[in-house]
Amino acid sequence: MNLMKIENQIEILEGFSKKGESYSNTNGSFGWRNPIRQDTGRILQSIVIASNPKRILEIGTAHGLSALYLVLGISDINKTTIDTIEFDSDVALDSQARFDLLNVPIKVLQGEAMDVIGKLNGTYELVFFDAQKSHYFQQLNLLIDKGLIGKGTILLADNVIDRKEECNEFLNWFIENNITHSIIPTECGLLVATL
Ligand SMILES: C[S@@+](CC[C@H](N)C(=O)[O-])C[C@H]1O[C@@H](n2cnc3c(N)ncnc32)[C@H](O)[C@@H]1O
Repeated sequence: MNLMKIENQIEILEGFSKKGESYSNTNGSFGWRNPIRQDTGRILQSIVIASNPKRILEIGTAHGLSALYLVLGISDINKTTIDTIEFDSDVALDSQARFDLLNVPIKVLQGEAMDVIGKLNGTYELVFFDAQKSHYFQQLNLLIDKGLIGKGTILLADNVIDRKEECNEFLNWFIENNITHSIIPTECGLLVATL
């Protein structure tokens, strides 16, 4: 893994508009494909360094900025993998090509998140939620029901401040279930929790 090449790619992606671009799908989904803010990437990287997860799941790939910060935190690329879910097939292909060029252990799983999660196996030690905010709660429930996450899993979720209304059900779950969590006041708000 060539750290300099990854940092260069991050610099290019950080130069993309933070407003992102709008998307709409044939299944009626629509929203904004906007990347994490500049204050969030190094936090993601640090959490991976500190927790040394073996399997990471990201929901919402876009152009790969957050996935590249996550990969920068990996200490041994032979021992840790990142699966990242993206429903737009062109974006998924483009991001996979970007990851392959960098030779990083990131696999883009193309499809609607709930369908993809439904087909996953094993367990993940860290999950980063960053697709539709109103879907965080149902994605969390499916991950739990399928046994893909459990005690000790680290959960991260972006936009829990600037789009709090859409995440309310998700956020309440952490309070109601007494799950250790904190919200870092980044520009968008990053939830950090441990199951
Ligand atoms: C906010 S962007 C992700 C930004 C990315 N994490 C980053 O920081 O570079 C959300 C992405 O998730 C995708 N997406 C939205 N809803 C989805 C769903 N239900 N299933 C799969 N992908 C979805 C969108 O196409 C978009 O590319």
